[in-house]
Amino acid sequence: QRSPVGSLLAEKGNYRHFMAKEIHEQPEVVGHTLAHYIDMASMRLKPFDWPVDPATLRRLTIIACGTAYMAGLVGKYWIERFARLPVEVDVASEYRYREAPVDPDGLTLVISQSGETADTLASLKYVKERGSKTVGVVNVPDSSIARLTDAAAPTLAGPEIGVASTKAFTCQLAALAALAIALGRARGTVGDEEEGALLAELVATPGLIAEALKLERATEKLAQGIAHARDVLYLGRGTGYPLALEGALKLKELTYIHAEGYAAGELKHGPIALIDPDMPVVVLAPRDAVFEKTVSNMQEVAARGGRIILIGARHAAEEAAVEIERFLAMPDVGANFAPIVYAVPVQLLAYHTAVLMGKDADQPRNLAKSVTVE
Ligand code: AGP
Repeated sequence: QRSPVGSLLAEKGNYRHFMAKEIHEQPEVVGHTLAHYIDMASMRLKPFDWPVDPATLRRLTIIACGTAYMAGLVGKYWIERFARLPVEVDVASEYRYREAPVDPDGLTLVISQSGETADTLASLKYVKERGSKTVGVVNVPDSSIARLTDAAAPTLAGPEIGVASTKAFTCQLAALAALAIALGRARGTVGDEEEGALLAELVATPGLIAEALKLERATEKLAQGIAHARDVLYLGRGTGYPLALEGALKLKELTYIHAEGYAAGELKHGPIALIDPDMPVVVLAPRDAVFEKTVSNMQEVAARGGRIILIGARHAAEEAAVEIERFLAMPDVGANFAPIVYAVPVQLLAYHTAVLMGKDADQPRNLAKSVTVE
């Protein structure tokens, strides 16, 4: 009979931490999550039982905390782009107290790995009491939030032991991407052909995640550039902006280094004053619709002596033609779903920096896996 510790250790496989194991499970569990929403044989969306007709919606509210909130921010870009539906994303701890008006015929989407986060659960109750229908993007099927929502949009990440959310995040993105396309179908803003093209791009992400995982040794070298830094700035645009926020959160919670995610285009409105040789600037630059803009923001940083750590499309460094301290050339990804793939180097960067600094990657100080109290 194995001891509980023994069985836990066994579950770690040959990984040093649960977090490392869970980062490496992402190709499989993102694939499982996508298969819940997409019929892989016909490459068509499976029917999704919306609790309210999406064609009648005037807006969608997304509520979550922490990394789940960052996933919601990415989802906003996709839902507005594909379904032409205005989306408002809120942190649950603010939403539950700001007396937000609730559309009694509306739809609220809550995102939670554990399904037990107190602030998210309270916000869910708040909107239900006021008539909103609800959908839960939840990883634990019989959790409080999963049981309370009108419709389930599950993530199939499996148990996530590491306190820092990794595979749950990419599975949340996968579910949100599928839901965004489904909303577009239901609202007539995504046609047959576009659905096929978008799904083909989306189902390619597990393979691209596997490619990104092969860059782990190179990503570890990036970690050497930020370990022991006092401050780190993450920059991104478009769906890269919420990923910059998530990257900063990962670094903060794992290494206790102060880090901040910022919209790259906003740098010139103040934060560019921060740029100095002591502060690494991590730039996320997939070849998406705002790639050129992101590169020019990176050039602004370099022109002021900033230390750039670029996680970007192949050739991005030479196209930028500025001093780049470290460059991780990512595999080519489509123009729409880059965050699902770029989440991997962002997670590995935080993880390896924590390991370099001797921090406990699975149980960071002061943190709990599920914040079931206010
Ligand atoms: C993420 O790395 C953190 N552990 C934390 O922000 C987490 O995402 C947040 O507490 C929300 O948890 P939930 O998804 O279980 O609701």
